[in-house]
Amino acid sequence: MTYYYVTTPIYYVNDAPHLGHAYTTVAADVLARWHRRRGEDVWFLTGTDEHSQKILRTAEANGVPPQEWADRLVEESWKPLWAHLAISHDDFIRTTERRHTDRVQEFVQDLYDKGEIYKGGYEGPYCVYCEEYKLPGELIEAEDGSGTPLCAIHRRPVELLKEENYFFKLSEYGDRLLAHYDAHPDFIQPASARNEVVNFVRQGLQDLSISRSTFDWGVKVPWDESHVIYVWVDALLNYATAVGYNENPEKFEATFPADVHLVGKDILRFHAVIWPAMLMANGLPLPGRIAANGWLLVGGEKMSKSNLTGISPETLTAHFGVDAYRWYFLRAIAFGQDGSFSWEDFTARYTSELANGYGNLASRVTAMTARYFEGSLPAPGEETEAERSLKSALLRAASEADHRIGDQLDFQGGILAVFDFVRQVNGYLTDQEPWKVAKSDSPGARTRLATILYTAADSLRAIAILLEPVMPETSERLWDSLGASTSLGPLSDQQVRDASAWGALPPGSPVTKGAVLFPRLDDRTDS
Ligand code: MSP
Repeated sequence: MTYYYVTTPIYYVNDAPHLGHAYTTVAADVLARWHRRRGEDVWFLTGTDEHSQKILRTAEANGVPPQEWADRLVEESWKPLWAHLAISHDDFIRTTERRHTDRVQEFVQDLYDKGEIYKGGYEGPYCVYCEEYKLPGELIEAEDGSGTPLCAIHRRPVELLKEENYFFKLSEYGDRLLAHYDAHPDFIQPASARNEVVNFVRQGLQDLSISRSTFDWGVKVPWDESHVIYVWVDALLNYATAVGYNENPEKFEATFPADVHLVGKDILRFHAVIWPAMLMANGLPLPGRIAANGWLLVGGEKMSKSNLTGISPETLTAHFGVDAYRWYFLRAIAFGQDGSFSWEDFTARYTSELANGYGNLASRVTAMTARYFEGSLPAPGEETEAERSLKSALLRAASEADHRIGDQLDFQGGILAVFDFVRQVNGYLTDQEPWKVAKSDSPGARTRLATILYTAADSLRAIAILLEPVMPETSERLWDSLGASTSLGPLSDQQVRDASAWGALPPGSPVTKGAVLFPRLDDRTDS
């Protein structure tokens, strides 16, 4: 067996998750669910990055030991949010777990034994928030006239750090990395991210300091316990340790390397340069793809805990619901691009696309079937050009969504393809006017009415399957109200290719008018 292996970054536990973290995690969840819908065996990994000076300092500032701080955040904030957002990960790795730390030591020891690591000194500006030494071009000056150098990403002062550290011979991997990018044009996505990485590597790589000796919250360097392993080397290895590296060869073979590492563009270089070089150095295979998402912005800046102005994922799900939340960011922002959140935009799209578009279609069709056919889905009569054209629209929408989401990680394009079909089914009803056909006593009217409602209901069956990865709970409810859970079995057994198998919903399915899929939004009182 081989798994389609998808990962999120493992998140720092210095604070609770915010919209930006949830954005990457929801995208990974949609990708994982999509591949499950293709009938593949999927392994979806997320977790937390718990070492580093930043976390030590936060824990100290809060007066608790770092492990206790991490335990508290993981149990009280991170895991509950992922459960709330219906994230379907198969494993959650924490870098303070023994299954991780032991293997990290073995990996690094192997590199040392192979002569890939040496002891040296380094002095330079360091950003604690990036956990990275900075090059002069990556700094900006404070605007207060003091000339204080700041990290361009975090806009916070860098610290001048001088250390005797162990170094990994990263500089020797430039040519091999460039050759790999060349041979695998899709390795880094989107193209803008790829170009940035290629240019960076072309400029020449410096060796990487992979240990720290000024604090001890980390995995100890096995041959020199006065050092801890650099948090990024520790963290990147989660993708290997979580799937049985040096522990469970069968599981490791079946899973590693990842098909897709989803990451924010802020951490692209770690994944597209350092991580593959580490794997090359240890003779391990490289991942299929590193896909970078853009930033969610607030006031034109990367969204972070400090500039969130109180908008948490829970604030939004309380107002719009979990499924609409999952849908919104992927629908509104082209994956890979930056985007801003606004209440107005979310509200407008919710109302027009979810409530008036998709939700209204579902309630019209189930209500009319309940009313005109006592809730038993009628068998269709002869089909006309209108049904044939809807059928080909479904085929197009299903294959487009499959290709865009499943292969290209173009979540927006895939969602739009399905919603275009929703619009066509709504248009079909408007054209066919089943409510008028129901009143007609001409011969054949009853059969025509059956055909129209069957066609619309079967279209909804397909829509429920295609939208399950994005809006799982809504799809389940629609599936139930179409009677499909009784006549076809659980939604989880359905595959993408079944979606376009026209006529799959058995006549006689017990259709009920379920609860409204997307209720009208209450007036907002919380902002
Ligand atoms: N611990 C490292 C990752 C190690 S992976 C081996 C880290 N953690 S983090 O908590 O800072 O989370 C970073 C990730 O969260 C980003 O790469 C991105 O995926 C997501 N985001 C955090 N803020 C974000 C935005 N404002 N917008 C979009 N994604 C954001 O870095």
